[in-house]
Amino acid sequence: MIKLPGLIDPHVHLREPGATHKEDYDTGTASALAGGVTMVLAMPNTKPPIFDQATLSAVLATAKTKARCDYAQYIGAGPENAAEVARLASQAAALKMYLDSTFGQLRLDDMTLWMEHFRLWPDATPIVTHSESRSMAAAIWMAQLFDKPIHIAHISLREEVLLIKEAKARGIKVTCEVCPHHLFLADGGIPLAPAGCDCCSGGLSGGRAEVRPRLATKADVDALWANLDVIDCFATDHAPHTLAEKDGENPPPGFPGLETLLPLLLTAVSEGRLTIDQIIEKSVTNPRRIFKLPEQPETWVEVDENARYEIRAAEMHSRCGWTPFEGWQVKGRVTRVVLRGQEAYKDGKILAEPGFGVNIRG
Ligand code: DOR
Ligand code: ZN
Repeated sequence: MIKLPGLIDPHVHLREPGATHKEDYDTGTASALAGGVTMVLAMPNTKPPIFDQATLSAVLATAKTKARCDYAQYIGAGPENAAEVARLASQAAALKMYLDSTFGQLRLDDMTLWMEHFRLWPDATPIVTHSESRSMAAAIWMAQLFDKPIHIAHISLREEVLLIKEAKARGIKVTCEVCPHHLFLADGGIPLAPAGCDCCSGGLSGGRAEVRPRLATKADVDALWANLDVIDCFATDHAPHTLAEKDGENPPPGFPGLETLLPLLLTAVSEGRLTIDQIIEKSVTNPRRIFKLPEQPETWVEVDENARYEIRAAEMHSRCGWTPFEGWQVKGRVTRVVLRGQEAYKDGKILAEPGFGVNIRG
């Protein structure tokens, strides 16, 4: 048995409010605990988006009654809310800025709108932006211009990790995260499983392969592994959509990930591609430092590092009902989670009640 500190996932979508048929603060935080994650930072691209005092207060009131693990809620940068979100900064996980993809009211396609946010957001927590190739380069440059920390979400490309490496070498305040699906899957959902593994060669079809950023080439994936020292955090981008939605017309992009994060990483440890120290650094120490998160006393995760088993969505706690890693053979199982002195998960059962989770910015 290995004992790890409780993991922090700095990037999850809990779908609360507006799409609770996919997930909510209850099922999403249950899924976190089953994955050994004891603190989640929840994204603001909900319906309505979390982008002012009213929407933030409303979601926090819901979270207070539903969350089973600790959490903080992101606030979203909109075209007209730079002053308001800056005032709310101490209540938020950090600021999420959507640069040029369409996300309703959180769309910012004019760079003067970025500037207002970079000017006003206090530098205690980072501005988090998507890694959208050249937009990412522009955002890093703007962070330098305004001397603000920037955190790049879910990098997936060789050019992104290499640009961030150069920026870090020059002292720019940039940090970044990578998702397990960008480390273990290539374009088309083709598994980059260890040599000799024949459990999962089919790939993902249709809407099930849809995720943003898209799954990249094997050369991109290799570059992420080769530059793991540049990558500060592991983040799941847990983006639950139901199987019916994924297999239907216009499948929405996104993969659930909270319950497969640690099994996949531990499997990589067993193959000698990763160390336990790297898991602790990228899933605990670095997110805590970057997002100024408190320590969780008497909190740990027990793992059976020798347990071999097959990933099965049917055993998971997320409401979405599927996983892109169905059938994968992994080595390393979360057996027990203790959160703030209380047994929160044991052998497949969630023991923490809704409302046990604490808003760490509360
Ligand atoms: O695949 C994705 N799904 N990428 C995103 O950036 C958003 C997410 C979602 O909210 O479903
Ligand atoms: Zn996301």
